[in-house]
Amino acid sequence: MVESHAEGQLPGGDPSRMTERSGTATARKLFIKTYGCQMNVYDSQRMADTLAPLGYRQSAGPEEADLILLNTCHIREKASEKVFSELGRLRLLQEAAAAQGRRLLIGVAGCVAQAEGEEIVRRAPQVDLVVGPQTYHRLPDLVTRALGGEAGRGLVDTEFPSESKFDFLPEEASPSGPAAFLSVQEGCDKFCSFCVVPYTRGAEVSRPVMDLVAEAQRLVNAGTLEITLLGQNVNAYHGEGPDGREWGLGRLLHRLAEIPGLERLRYTTSHPRDVDDELIAAHRDLEKLMPYLHLPVQSGSDRILGMMNRKHDAAFYRAVVEKLRAAQPKLALSSDFIVGFPGEKDQDFAATLRLVTEVGYAQAYSFKYSARPGTPAATAAAPVAEEVKSERLAMLQQLLGEQQQAFNRQFVAQRMPVLLERQAKRPGQLVGRSPWMQSVVVEAPQRLLGRLLEVEILEARPNSLIGRVVTLPEEKNGMEAPRMRATA
Ligand code: 5AD
Ligand code: SF4
Repeated sequence: MVESHAEGQLPGGDPSRMTERSGTATARKLFIKTYGCQMNVYDSQRMADTLAPLGYRQSAGPEEADLILLNTCHIREKASEKVFSELGRLRLLQEAAAAQGRRLLIGVAGCVAQAEGEEIVRRAPQVDLVVGPQTYHRLPDLVTRALGGEAGRGLVDTEFPSESKFDFLPEEASPSGPAAFLSVQEGCDKFCSFCVVPYTRGAEVSRPVMDLVAEAQRLVNAGTLEITLLGQNVNAYHGEGPDGREWGLGRLLHRLAEIPGLERLRYTTSHPRDVDDELIAAHRDLEKLMPYLHLPVQSGSDRILGMMNRKHDAAFYRAVVEKLRAAQPKLALSSDFIVGFPGEKDQDFAATLRLVTEVGYAQAYSFKYSARPGTPAATAAAPVAEEVKSERLAMLQQLLGEQQQAFNRQFVAQRMPVLLERQAKRPGQLVGRSPWMQSVVVEAPQRLLGRLLEVEILEARPNSLIGRVVTLPEEKNGMEAPRMRATA
């Protein structure tokens, strides 16, 4: 679960907000709280971009905001429940603002917005607007209408429009940072029986190659060294290439790897069925493609995989992993697992443990099955008892935790390139990412933020590595040398 708030935005130029004397837009404050996946983090940033021309700028917290957006997640019950309790808290904030003569707008975006739409404004009348993942390019219009007091109730826009939001979004106005996301594909046509994504995000749509090249180039121009391509089913990517033909993800990765100054590429999340030869070849041929892949399997039991409508069995998954590892021997794997899917018996769960033992994961996410209204599995027979789910989850997490520790330990006394991404909690320390997505903590001055440097690993912790920078950029005439190219 990711919770973040929008990065700073550039001031916009809405004439209605200009003061004649200064000619600058009156700053309105925006706070976005993001739940769920990386796609939501990307979307939140783009929502901030759409609102920049109305003069909305980042606020550090919700208290001083004029507009609060909750960018929500519907994937599991727990994630979705959070929205209504948060809306309760925001109502108090809205009332406090009104008592000071200030108007605080509240909006709900993301997958809960898509799934619940009108129900949200009915249950939570404090909500001024509801916008789905495919309609947030219309946010400026909705906000303007809400400010005008239109209808006196929440405005809801959750259709799946025929136009693509990407044709309407402004260029990125927010700073992207050393590691950025780029949404290349959205939606999913797989219809796993437990999953809400095909309903909340809609059918699969891929963005054209050259739009992505342009966005990636802008990110790199702004200092980004690493780009993670995002999609609910990213390796089903089939965007229009410059030759007018459909390009797959492997080809897209090749093209993006040509961008000078872009050092690292990743992509997430993939489906085993959509790993094609071109993508496997990309792992062999592209140095910039990091040797780490999140490839969810969900279960090791063919019976359960069938009921999940995963469209692959365990043998197929193992074969895909083998091909990928043959192409890139350094490849580390991650996965998602669901325990306690309806009808899961002890022997099914044992098959999952067996598959984990055989494949070996660098890290993984595991969840108890959570029935989602409207999905086929929600009405399936033979639900698994809560205690059994908890027991299985604990066993699986124990095994995955041991594998993660063993994976991390092998790097002690080794060197690896690390992209220093952010300040650590402790002053004087920075946190970066290894090629294998491990968090690496180093003692380093602030000025090294955003650098890709060689780090020696001193210690392996369960969830991170502790390291020491071995090469430092030289300083000439008080100026820093250009960014270092890391050596593996
Ligand atoms: N219950 C539990 N886990 C789920 N996931 C998706 N839907 C459900 C559900 N109904 C998990 C899957 C997916 C990840 C993003 O969330 O493992 O890969
Ligand atoms: Fe959901 Fe992933 Fe299955 Fe698509 S492939 S339905 S996003 S679990």
